[in-house]
Amino acid sequence: PRPILLTRHGEIQDNVRGRIGGDAALSEAGELYKKKLANFVGKRLKSERAASVRFFIYIDSMSSFCPLNLLWVFGREEKRKHKTKNKKIWTSTLQRTILTASPIVGFPKIQWRALDEINAGVCDGMTYEEIKKNMPEEYEYVADSRSRKKDKLRYRYPRGESYLDVIQRLEPVIIELERQRAPVVVISHQAVLRALYAYFADRPLQEIPHIEVPLHTIIEIQMGVTGVQEKRYKLMD
Ligand code: F6P
Repeated sequence: PRPILLTRHGEIQDNVRGRIGGDAALSEAGELYKKKLANFVGKRLKSERAASVRFFIYIDSMSSFCPLNLLWVFGREEKRKHKTKNKKIWTSTLQRTILTASPIVGFPKIQWRALDEINAGVCDGMTYEEIKKNMPEEYEYVADSRSRKKDKLRYRYPRGESYLDVIQRLEPVIIELERQRAPVVVISHQAVLRALYAYFADRPLQEIPHIEVPLHTIIEIQMGVTGVQEKRYKLMD
């Protein structure tokens, strides 16, 4: 089994005000979270390495008892593969995730546009209150399928995206995550992580826009032979 760690970026002022989208930097609380996250990730990934190294030492020590030295060859090969199977940190291309990853050192970082937050189109930069006031028909009051409240999964922001659009653009990310043999830390955004989490936790499509993915919390998913296990670590409020 190898873990996938999912987390939202550290808090930004827009989160406090309920302002969506944008490309803001971290608030004071967000700055604190990035340090706590780096500390957690450093320890967590190191413990993964320790487990693998223990396994290799075991294989190597077995080698002297194996007449064909097959185990030795196997152990060496695994060690070689292990070196190239680097743990990775994936972020979106928005600065709040890149800044959140910045204190994590020693692991390659990859930026994915597909991990960017849902595009709120003409509503980008507005608060939920402003959307409600300025575009009530978009928000909730008109009882047709264009209303976000009625169908949050299918609702597409004007000149933006729907949750279904986000799910579709995540396909290459999911394929790549499935292929990884080493732990990956994904630092992304609320809507995107709802979709990723739902894929691994096998949650129904309709639930995706409503799944709880709080700030400053790490969701660890372990994919093993017996299925998927989940742990949540709340690093701060
Ligand atoms: O509020 C933070 C945020 O990441 C916004 O940028 C985004 O539009 C929103 O969450 C997605 O959540 P919801 O679909 O519940 O509005």
